Amino acid sequence: MTKISGPIGIFDSGYGGLTILEQIRKELPEYDYLYLGDNARTPYGTRSFDVVYRFTLQCVEYLFRQGCQLVILACNTASAKALRTIQQNDLNKIDPTRRVLGVIRPTVEEVVKFTKTKHIGLLATSGTVLSDSYPLEIHKIDPDIVVSSEACPLWVPLIENNEHLNEGADYFVKKYVSGLMSKDSQIDSIILGCTHYPLLSDKITRELPHGVKIISQGEIVARSLSDYLHRHPEMEEKCSRNATCRYLTTENPGKFSSSASIFLAEEIRAEHVEVSE
Ligand code: DGL
Repeated sequence: MTKISGPIGIFDSGYGGLTILEQIRKELPEYDYLYLGDNARTPYGTRSFDVVYRFTLQCVEYLFRQGCQLVILACNTASAKALRTIQQNDLNKIDPTRRVLGVIRPTVEEVVKFTKTKHIGLLATSGTVLSDSYPLEIHKIDPDIVVSSEACPLWVPLIENNEHLNEGADYFVKKYVSGLMSKDSQIDSIILGCTHYPLLSDKITRELPHGVKIISQGEIVARSLSDYLHRHPEMEEKCSRNATCRYLTTENPGKFSSSASIFLAEEIRAEHVEVSE
């Protein structure tokens, strides 16, 4: 019998998942990866539940057709609005042996261990904030934790236009960080609940009161995936190991390859794909 195996699929609405992929490849360099950015339909952060779910499902099914047995939704918005329905309703119909994992649960498991004051701050897209996914997941583990959230709708466009390191970005960093901290002065841990935001982490840190720490989602997701593969040898066997990485985009591949340099240290060459059959 031929052994089924394929690359690990990493999905994002666009470029942001590259920050997660980079950490995953550092932690688990031996596996093959297939990155898919739905750049033609980004941003997801301002879209409704139904639209994010439909787009995410199409992309997951596309990655499955490319042979991925395991797909990571490296996008907070997709994890917030589509993951549960895909896991509970769609996987059974598509192929119950495949798996789709998100970024919210692993992040939450770490942050609840990390906070001393039990007051946590969330900076994320409007979609992720409105979904309430972070507070809901946090309260499943510890109902006494207080979670305050601030949507930061201008950060993704600043980063995608490569303006995030310029002075003009400082105003919007200060605006959202002080907006969050004014809601609860006891916050000691901040979740950057959007894959783009690590690119602003130096500026965010500068605006935070002394002692308030940022949780690094990329590293957490990478460690959690490593742990998952240890605990699930039946899935680990299905993840091929030739240390390759391909990049797919639903938009212009030349634009993706050049903009990817904002997020990644290495040069890449992306390929264009259509995700709907
Ligand atoms: N990748 C998305 C997230 O992590 C942000 C970009 C978007 O709005 O599509 O929430």
